[in-house]
Amino acid sequence: MSDAKNAEWWKTGVIYQIYPRSFMDSDGDGIGDLAGIESRLDHLVRLGIDAIWISPFYPSPMVDFGYDVSDYTDVDPLFGTMADFERLLAAVHARGLKLLLDFVPCHSSDRHPWFLESRSSRDNPKRDWYVWRDPLPGGGPPTNWIAEFGGSTWEWDEGTGQYYLHSFLPEQPTINWRNPQARAAMLDAMRFWFDRGVDGFRVDAVDHAAPNPERGDNPVNAAWEGPEGHTMSLLAAHSRHQPEVFDVVRDMRALARTYPEEKLLVGEAYGEIREFIEYYGAELDGFQLPFNFLLINAEWNPVIVAGLVDAYEAALPEGAWPNWVLGNHDRARIATRAGPGQAAVAATLLLTLRGTPTIYQGDELGMENVEIPADRVVDPWEINMPGQGLGRDPERAPLAWDAGAGGGFTTGEPWLPMDTRPGLNVAAQEGDPASMLNLHRRLLRLRRAEPALMQGDYRTLSVDDAVFCYERVRNGRRIGVALNFSDRARPMDLGGETLFSTTGDDARTGDLAPNEGRVVRLA
Ligand code: NOJ
Ligand code: MG
Repeated sequence: MSDAKNAEWWKTGVIYQIYPRSFMDSDGDGIGDLAGIESRLDHLVRLGIDAIWISPFYPSPMVDFGYDVSDYTDVDPLFGTMADFERLLAAVHARGLKLLLDFVPCHSSDRHPWFLESRSSRDNPKRDWYVWRDPLPGGGPPTNWIAEFGGSTWEWDEGTGQYYLHSFLPEQPTINWRNPQARAAMLDAMRFWFDRGVDGFRVDAVDHAAPNPERGDNPVNAAWEGPEGHTMSLLAAHSRHQPEVFDVVRDMRALARTYPEEKLLVGEAYGEIREFIEYYGAELDGFQLPFNFLLINAEWNPVIVAGLVDAYEAALPEGAWPNWVLGNHDRARIATRAGPGQAAVAATLLLTLRGTPTIYQGDELGMENVEIPADRVVDPWEINMPGQGLGRDPERAPLAWDAGAGGGFTTGEPWLPMDTRPGLNVAAQEGDPASMLNLHRRLLRLRRAEPALMQGDYRTLSVDDAVFCYERVRNGRRIGVALNFSDRARPMDLGGETLFSTTGDDARTGDLAPNEGRVVRLA
């Protein structure tokens, strides 16, 4: 393969997200760590993925569980050491996998030395590394903006008599990317990991990178029907997806391009299709993969899902490569949203649509949201805005490796309660041909064997209130997919030879079984 081809490994690759606190604990403190990840890499090799993205493991006070970074170029002792990281990276590469880290550009921790300096006085050289503003003439915060986790985005600093901006928690002050020194320091942090051999980054909450407080209040979102005081009750007209964000994204991509094998950038920016599509960049000089969260928010209904697939396919700029996501550490598990019966259909969808899939750890087992008793809640979003279903602990519960105490995840007390139902662990699913784990392996094997699935064109064939059918075509080879979103048997409208069925019978013909997903080779 030529270098240029190789640099596009992610077009045929499958990404697997590791939430490091919950993957594997090596030292018995109940919290997953880097050595734990290394000890379980063979699970990922057998699964058949190509790249791992690890959520933040940098030094952090952990107020937002690592998304509050106090040092961008080190490892938090909770997760291990720099030597552990180096070993993990080598082990990942030795298995032919890629490693993506998580870059958190829009805010640091309020404990980061940069912010400590910035808040120390108005004339500190790093004052402008963060976003400081005076109160309104009559007093009070500069704008009405609401932070993502509730409350004003402005935090009063008594010491220097100004407000600082934070898009999430007050402990996550917004970094000012308009300041050239701050910008250079952040890009240096990216370079630090690239130079060590990291293959790319998932870039956190990037739509918040260049807020414009000068433009004033955000307008009320008249369509909002959710809880009062929620960030979505205002339209983020001046705070998110600002035009200047794209300068930041282009700078990151320019850096990624300086390496012989270009680094991969996956961008996290929730929004409407027209909003997140922009992150490809006007000249495709932005992120290679701006996350497509359409299915993470969608109602599980075939007509709605088919409509989203068509809308996204139609909106993609020329030359842009698609991607799909069903779950992550911020959203309810797919098996909970779609119902456990539909989890296999959802997996079939994710792994046969056109574009790079990202699998959230545990979805390969069909993990569901775990109920968190009130006294075990730790997510600040749930703590700030309780009882509204916003908390993220349920999808962050540790993965179970076996049926033993601590689920083979830890010899200690897991940091969140675990789902200990028999069958929801790796060992139990290993030997069961009908398990979700083996279903994922079969699907990933099929995907790899079928260029039409990896790279073929996409076309919707039909959809009704129960069944969604589409095809993938490459060099005359046609692969059809039929997904039964209902729990009743339905007629199968695609002929052809069966290649895969969620029922476990990969030669199955005739009607679709309840909750069946089937992949066929069309004549
Ligand atoms: C998105 C991350 O996925 C989420 O976990 C985090 O709380 C926010 N960004 C803030 O960094
Ligand atoms: Mg540990």
